[in-house]
Amino acid sequence: MVLAAGAAVRRAAQALAASGSASPEAEARTLVAHVAHIELGRLPLAGPLDDDTLTALDLAVARRLSGEPVQHITGVAHFRTTSLCVGPGVFVPRPETETMVGWCLEQASPGWRVVELCAGSGAISRSLWLEGPGLAQWALELSPEAVPYLRTNLEGTNVDVVESDMADGLSELDGTVDLVVVNPPYVPLDAWESVPADVRDHDPGLALFSGADGLDALRVVARVAARLLRPGGLLAAEHAEVQHTDVVDLYARDGRYDTVRDHRDLTGRWRFVTARRLG
Ligand SMILES: C[S@@+](CC[C@H](N)C(=O)[O-])C[C@H]1O[C@@H](n2cnc3c(N)ncnc32)[C@H](O)[C@@H]1O
Repeated sequence: MVLAAGAAVRRAAQALAASGSASPEAEARTLVAHVAHIELGRLPLAGPLDDDTLTALDLAVARRLSGEPVQHITGVAHFRTTSLCVGPGVFVPRPETETMVGWCLEQASPGWRVVELCAGSGAISRSLWLEGPGLAQWALELSPEAVPYLRTNLEGTNVDVVESDMADGLSELDGTVDLVVVNPPYVPLDAWESVPADVRDHDPGLALFSGADGLDALRVVARVAARLLRPGGLLAAEHAEVQHTDVVDLYARDGRYDTVRDHRDLTGRWRFVTARRLG
């Protein structure tokens, strides 16, 4: 049996829609392009799909219907202008983080020392390397499952990968860093049930949860960034929308920062705090 690519997309989209997918058309196109080994943008030019390809598509749709993220099925996540290799053991980068990277790019000057804490797949560091003005960069990550993805995604860049707990990592850079950027875990432990099952089941717990109020990692970040940054150096840290007031208070009251500001993401939600290290 052969089926035109457009018909295969419609069939997959119907199956995904019936199971409640929020974006069945987009997911179906991504899965068809993946099994047909064709770039998404060239999908309208694809020829008919043969039996083997249709079997692979049925399998991919079944995996999606069982809750597996599309990015784990394709092995690829898109972020700003780049693509990252992802899979089990590493957090899938989200579009809500893209605005924070844009803010960092607006601040950074050539030669700046930039440290990314909690780097995961390296989406932030890779984007800063690709789009930035020529930076000296470090990407730090604790999880031994995530670090291989980080190394793969930063291969061929000048970003130094460091496997360490952020609490005590990169002490050789203390007082010299121009910018610290971080998307830490920030979901409260008791919010476990409110996290969608496909996120809970497929993103690592270490990437999501952070103490009773979700702010444990952001407290560590306040301490670590204060140690790393030079006087006048900048911090950008992601948080959940509901943490807007608490996070601004946390950094404003810390005593080691001024110019504490909160920023919205592309959907208008409060998403990341920025602050300047006092002299
Ligand atoms: C929300 S994910 C963000 C990943 C990536 N920066 C992104 O935006 O896609 C948080 C990451 O922090 C890492 N992490 C958690 N605790 C850490 C710690 N104490 N030190 C370093 N990394 C940590 C997790 O393993 C996970 O990769």
